[in-house]
Amino acid sequence: MSRLTIYREDDPGSRELDTTDGRAIAAALQRIGVRFERWEASQPLSRDVEDQAVMNAYRSDIERLKSQCGYQAVDVVRCLPDNPKRLELRRKFLDEHTHAEDEVRFFVEGAGVFYLRAAGKVHVTRCERGDLLSVPAGTRHWFDMGPAPYFTAIRLFTNPEGWVAKFTGEPIARQFPAFENVPA
Ligand code: LAC
Ligand code: NI
Repeated sequence: MSRLTIYREDDPGSRELDTTDGRAIAAALQRIGVRFERWEASQPLSRDVEDQAVMNAYRSDIERLKSQCGYQAVDVVRCLPDNPKRLELRRKFLDEHTHAEDEVRFFVEGAGVFYLRAAGKVHVTRCERGDLLSVPAGTRHWFDMGPAPYFTAIRLFTNPEGWVAKFTGEPIARQFPAFENVPA
């Protein structure tokens, strides 16, 4: 299930909100400028469909977001639990970082946990199938795909060439629950 748990950034033992309700998640994230939506496929998707079919199934929501936010490029990324590079991939985004443009991800399948640090709090957001999350440029965040990563995600970009992570060098990420400890 999708889930949002909010902690005070200086106290991983605090828990100010814990919800699996999509509307409550969207409302709480909106307060820090993060967009959370739930999308439905326009047609049923089987597991092994090609990227283009995946994007076609969500065409209207993708086009809406592109025109509202000016995104120029769309692609599909996938990861399977037996990926030989899974440890390396997981480690890549485990430290707090920012980007110069929005980070927009829609989960077609599987799951991942985003940690959004804003307004003195850490917003731990477990995303699953049907969830769209948009992290605004400059927002401090990190991401955990877990030890056996499984997801298919649509990504939207303003400029895919400019896609780099700027690490803040702060060790805060280690203090909050890892993917395995965020209840599904
Ligand atoms: C990224 C995520 C995973 O930067 O934070 O791609
Ligand atoms: Ni990122």
